[in-house]
Amino acid sequence: MTSFPTLGLVGSGAGGVELIRAELVQPLCDRGWQVAVTLTPTAGEWLRQLGEIEKLEQTTGLPVRVTARQPGEQSPHPRVDGYAVVPASANTVAKLATGIADNQALTTVCEALGAEDVPVVVFPRVNAAHARHPAWKGHIDNLRTAGVELLYGEDVWPLHEPRTAPGRDLPWQAIRDMIVSHITC
Ligand SMILES: Cc1cc2nc3c(=O)[nH]c(=O)nc-3n(C[C@H](O)[C@H](O)[C@H](O)COP(=O)(O)O)c2cc1C
Repeated sequence: MTSFPTLGLVGSGAGGVELIRAELVQPLCDRGWQVAVTLTPTAGEWLRQLGEIEKLEQTTGLPVRVTARQPGEQSPHPRVDGYAVVPASANTVAKLATGIADNQALTTVCEALGAEDVPVVVFPRVNAAHARHPAWKGHIDNLRTAGVELLYGEDVWPLHEPRTAPGRDLPWQAIRDMIVSHITC
């Protein structure tokens, strides 16, 4: 029998997070993947207001996690074969790169980076100002050194100044391709 990977998908408070169900979760579930979604508190609030949380839960058959479990409770998510952080805000990239795990989404991915054998794909959805922050290059270098597969660069996501970018879709096909090629069971 063919088996398919289980993906831990983390969404943060950046543009395009409202489309993770249509562009990532549904296509991967259609291929037979299991997808366990965890959102940062910001993304959780955005998607709750859009009514997307229930739809994600219907599509995946799993609860969407935003908060941590209580001590003594079981995790509601299965063990995963890898993580994708899509979209990753500048804030979430900085925290991941420096090991700050102050929400459930970061807790799981920071642990995976330390585990070293769990593949992690990250798409930073940032602008030119984020990338000029003095700490930014160090964050990107740290993540690369940790083995993170970054979908980042002028070819996939040209950087625009804040509030000047034309309306544009995330590079969903490239994101799906990177997840499928790096996460296996
Ligand atoms: C409408 C809106 C859109 C935003 N889009 C982005 C974005 O595309 N990239 C980004 O890095 N931050 C963006 N932000 C800022 C983040 O949401 C903010 O830094 C937040 O603290 C991120 O929290 P999180 O990383 O825990 O989700 C946006 C904020 C708002 C209100």
